[in-house]
Amino acid sequence: MIKIDFKNIFACPSAGVSEAKWRALGKDLPRLIKQLKTRGQGFHSVIDDAKTAGEIIKFAKAQRGKFESLVVLGIGGSALGLLAISQALNNIYHNEAGARGKRTPKLYVLDNIDPALIRETEEQLNLAKTLFIVISKSGTTAETVSQYLYFRKKIAQKKLLIKKHFVFITDAKTGWLRQVANAEKISAFSIPNNIGGRWSVLTPVGLLPAALMGIDIQKILASARQGRSSIFLANFSANLAWQMASAQYLLYHQGRSINVLMPYAQHLWRLADWYRQLLAESIGKVKNRRGEQVNVGITPVTALGVTDQHSQLQLYSEGPEDKLIIFVRVSEAGKKISIPLLTKTEVEFSFLRGVSFNKLFDVEYQGTAAALTKNNRPNFTINIKRVDEQTLGELFMLFEGAVAFLGELFNVDAFNQPGVELSKKMTRDLLKNS
Ligand code: PA5
Repeated sequence: MIKIDFKNIFACPSAGVSEAKWRALGKDLPRLIKQLKTRGQGFHSVIDDAKTAGEIIKFAKAQRGKFESLVVLGIGGSALGLLAISQALNNIYHNEAGARGKRTPKLYVLDNIDPALIRETEEQLNLAKTLFIVISKSGTTAETVSQYLYFRKKIAQKKLLIKKHFVFITDAKTGWLRQVANAEKISAFSIPNNIGGRWSVLTPVGLLPAALMGIDIQKILASARQGRSSIFLANFSANLAWQMASAQYLLYHQGRSINVLMPYAQHLWRLADWYRQLLAESIGKVKNRRGEQVNVGITPVTALGVTDQHSQLQLYSEGPEDKLIIFVRVSEAGKKISIPLLTKTEVEFSFLRGVSFNKLFDVEYQGTAAALTKNNRPNFTINIKRVDEQTLGELFMLFEGAVAFLGELFNVDAFNQPGVELSKKMTRDLLKNS
């Protein structure tokens, strides 16, 4: 389903990456595939877990009609993937549209502890009609646990059943949340221990909220399996994840250390956010696997077409030559909407005659990519047909596969996050000593 057009990289001579150089790096592919397999990571095998998918669907069916609102308590990798799924597959105004049609529950994601967010979300809720989904891989993240404690008290004060209003998603064995779930028999789904937070979108972390909103998770998983089928192919032309990673890697070494992900799709704005975390936390590392200090990392930036043509493009086009722009282009943006020309005064816009928003949107992408290329700004385009369940799983796999390969290319551990852990620890220590 996905096709990637890399030609605008090679059309920028000052980017310093020729097609020949890019293809030549493919000699490392068989070795790095083998190496990646030895990491024992589950992000690509979890999509075969039919048992868990079945349990999620069963649980979601049993909740149908009971809740007006789902509130996710989770942060980072425990929030961004499900936000990406919801925005991609639900109506852009899901909460308003859902409320009108009374079809599926509204979604609130508390991925911050700003008291304003907590207060103002609470104001939206009828607690008797709210299901809290507490998500934390470690089961110990202070932000998530404190939110849980807060809303647990609220539910108890209303004399509502904790077991009915909470479901946990956490490690199968370890962590405080797992202990609570076991002790109080609260429904809990597991995140496999070989999958870290930001890699967990296709585990219950992303799939349970999706299923509760009536999204067909089996289709997402099937699409992810389709995407995975090429990740372990030692064939340069077939392996899109490798092609993407090797282009990013070579450009990084030519000074393009910032990657802008710019979908031309309102529904993929949150996907760009999800990818931002995946790339930042996975590759930003002080040491390589040999223990040498390397301080590598690609800085991910998100932008939205066409909106950010009018806020960021000037910088990308003429500012420092430190960026690679990655577009996502959707060829079928849904039912056509024509732009009407009403009176003679619009004569200076006669070029819009007979043009639809669909066409204008796509032509603006083409113009932007061409302008960047003309200014020697390397860019490539991920082409998909539609934003739907069939493409979303494949996109997740493409991005995850590419970041996993980047880890191997930079020879860093793409699956740990010591910098995040350090800040969690220091916050705890500060609180203990305050
Ligand atoms: O990717 C990661 O591991 C982190 O960003 C986590 O997702 C984030 O810190 C939240 O951790 P947890 O899911 O353990 O609450």
